[in-house]
Amino acid sequence: MLPDFIQPHADLTSRNSLALPAQAEFLATITSAEQLAAVARHPDLAGRRRFALGGGSNLVLTGDFPGLMLSMAIPGRELAGEDAQAWYVRAGAGENWHDFVQWTLARGWPGLENLSLIPGSVGAAPIQNIGAYGLEVGELIDHLEAVDLHTGKTTRFSAADCAFGYRDSLFKREGWHLTGRYAITRITFRLPKRWHPRTAYGEVSAELARNRIDSPSPQQLAAAIITIRQKKLPDPVALPNAGSFFQNPVVSAELATALATAHPQLPRYPQADGSVKLAAGWLVEQAGWKGRNLGPVGMYEHQALVLVNRGGAKSRDVQALTRAVREAVLARFGVNLVPEPVFL
Ligand code: EPU
Repeated sequence: MLPDFIQPHADLTSRNSLALPAQAEFLATITSAEQLAAVARHPDLAGRRRFALGGGSNLVLTGDFPGLMLSMAIPGRELAGEDAQAWYVRAGAGENWHDFVQWTLARGWPGLENLSLIPGSVGAAPIQNIGAYGLEVGELIDHLEAVDLHTGKTTRFSAADCAFGYRDSLFKREGWHLTGRYAITRITFRLPKRWHPRTAYGEVSAELARNRIDSPSPQQLAAAIITIRQKKLPDPVALPNAGSFFQNPVVSAELATALATAHPQLPRYPQADGSVKLAAGWLVEQAGWKGRNLGPVGMYEHQALVLVNRGGAKSRDVQALTRAVREAVLARFGVNLVPEPVFL
């Protein structure tokens, strides 16, 4: 007998923001770490594939999922502690990311405002180290807890353990997000009391200037970020998408210089280690794919980095467009684009 929080043959179409049709063999709605321990130890579930599903906003379902999908719905948000330097704020993996960020701001604990309006859940945020407008979430994570789905035991990971990088973490690097090794249950953020608005990003400073705001409050900064995102990024409810579809490629200084000689407009962001980050959206646009469709999918007209489902797309349509865009960018620039979402 399976526990009653597990249902067989669950439709996943409304659980992935690209709205790709697929089924899970089993779907568990997880509201506590104890349920994960029960899943780990249940004899009928031994050896089955698992996958921890958050908001499904960074996911490409390539077919039905033969195993147990864990829909992470653990609730809760609270002030876990405070010292002279910082507030420690804890949230369950199932909390909606944007709502959580706005709640911290309303309570007077700033820091996460640049990550406003990022789709998805709290528990998914560290896996690819979500980032926007000069801030990555890993910078403000103190530690997190995850259940080891082999043993059912809870493990604590410090921010250093998580080894955050650009759209990367230990969880992703080890492939644990694909193998279902760990399910993140809750996260404790460290929000420093000395707050400085991060406004260096050109679009952010321009939006604040447009509103004649010199020294923004955290809420004003959040409002500016929300305005910028709403202009460029489609609302997944209206137009299904998974956010940036490719990572910004990081290339050698030599290649960046050679490309810039041939293409003087090429945006370049030098990295601390001497490598150079390029703008995938620019490359996709220059390769002719901005606003262009292939069957029922296309690259968004206001931000070429976002792949959109214009209606009725299947996984194979997404895969065909992924291939076409990668080939076009490789042919034109010699740069290999790597998809950002998880392909499951
Ligand atoms: N660009 C174009 N054409 C386009 C899109 C962009 O020429 O169609 C150029 C822009 O003009 C700019 C550069 O590319 O010079 C960078 O574009 P933008 O500032 O829009 O940011 P991005 O690099 O495309 C990244 C993140 C976003 C994040 C923004 C803001 C990645 C893969 N994407 O996008 O994250 O919101 O910066 O910080 O790192 C996400 O990961 O899902 C996501 C939306």
